[in-house]
Amino acid sequence: MTVAADEPFSLIIFGASGDLTRRKLMPALWSLYAGRVLPEPFTIIATARTGMTDDEFRVRMRAAIGEFARIQPPSEAVWERFARALVYVAGDPTDAALYPRIERALKDAEAARAAGASRLFYCATPPSLYDDIIQNLGSSGLARPVGGFTRIIVEKPFGRDYASARALGRQLASAFHEEQIYRIDHYLGKETVQNILVFRFANGIFEPLWNRNHVAEVQVTVAESIGVETRGAYYEEAGALRDMMQNHLLQLLCLIAMEPPVTFDAGPVRDEKNKVMHAIRPIEPARVSESALRGQYGPGFAEGKPVPGYRQEKGVAPDSKTETYAALRLLVDNWRWAGVPFYLRTGKRLAKRVSEIAIRFHRTPHLIFHRSPTGVEANSLVIRIQPDEGMALTVAAKTPGPDLRLGPVRLDFRYGEVFGGEPPEAYERLLLDAIHGDATLYAPGDWVEKAWQLLGPVLDAWGEAAGPPLYPYEAGSWGPAEAEAFIARDSGAWRRP
Ligand code: BG6
Repeated sequence: MTVAADEPFSLIIFGASGDLTRRKLMPALWSLYAGRVLPEPFTIIATARTGMTDDEFRVRMRAAIGEFARIQPPSEAVWERFARALVYVAGDPTDAALYPRIERALKDAEAARAAGASRLFYCATPPSLYDDIIQNLGSSGLARPVGGFTRIIVEKPFGRDYASARALGRQLASAFHEEQIYRIDHYLGKETVQNILVFRFANGIFEPLWNRNHVAEVQVTVAESIGVETRGAYYEEAGALRDMMQNHLLQLLCLIAMEPPVTFDAGPVRDEKNKVMHAIRPIEPARVSESALRGQYGPGFAEGKPVPGYRQEKGVAPDSKTETYAALRLLVDNWRWAGVPFYLRTGKRLAKRVSEIAIRFHRTPHLIFHRSPTGVEANSLVIRIQPDEGMALTVAAKTPGPDLRLGPVRLDFRYGEVFGGEPPEAYERLLLDAIHGDATLYAPGDWVEKAWQLLGPVLDAWGEAAGPPLYPYEAGSWGPAEAEAFIARDSGAWRRP
């Protein structure tokens, strides 16, 4: 990461008593500070409904950092210096009276550091509060830049379908200019995800292979072993398609499928990703089952222990129809990818936590080793996003011995082995980018709307009482058995990472 520029700023977090602040935002801010890359001086103004003093908030955040941060405070003195920058303002974000109080806290902070009035707002609340927050920021005048930058980061979900995404877009546009708006997708901040572009566009050897002439199929897997944990009520409204597919998996598809951008800057990168979205063949409402499959986990096992089914989770209806597994088959209708199926799948309570992109290449046109008793696998390139970050190319080799026997070998690169240490958390990178005004790794509004538009027919079909089947699967398995027939049409099979 770049060394901290002298760029004093204030970060205002709405939803400061929530899980996101505790698990992700504060640990990321702390790690940036401890790594000396957070621009200084800074003030973090945290606001939520819970009544708390500054000190009580600091104690909570100290505990959160202890539990979740990548870097631990080296001494109490260093922690104290960071903690002094934390200010807590209790209040209801739907109440206009909160905003003058936030403004006062901002002005106090800006007067104390006597430099810069750069402000970054962060909506870390449930999405039902976004409208009020955005409207109040607009009407209070806080959305307008006052000398430095004024930006807003919005967390997903950005709406729950095309219409609501557009409504949110309009609401944001009523208070902010598009260049002030940062829609966060934390997958784009993951080191290995950023590396997809470096890998594709900083090496000459892959580009000639990266097309329909050589690639037979692409599989994107984002599998989680956890269930819905404490988020049953949220998940009931979301489901796998909205929670993961509409954002994280479609972003990964775009990074794999996009053309080389002119430069690695926000505009060109976003343009190329948008072009991919435009090239994805629309899903026909009458043929949704050919492009999409859904499942829901029942009771089973996770790490050897029995776990309940989705319908038994807290906050979930006993007859819930919400999908916890979703698979898609998409086609990108352009010169590069015509005819290459992209299979995407994601689910909770799957056999293990693993995110990867697998590119399967065509077989050789003719195999001369007909005396070998073993066949040959097609070459594949697997980009492992997490855990065990890295990439592996599978090639055929002669296995040792007097016979001519072929076997697959993996040319394997592991981040941990090569670079050591833990890579920075996605939120670290993304927060820093927003402070520096770099939106390359953020999702633009038109991309988000296009993603909802693409999934619209699936959302509609799955929302109908007599919609396509919701296949059960056992917790701890690789998803519904029917998912195998779904992919078999293209002569493939799901990988078992
Ligand atoms: C979030 C989803 O966006 O991503 C969660 O809302 C999911 O349901 C999480 O668990 C997965 O993120 P990661 O970084 O743990 O793969």
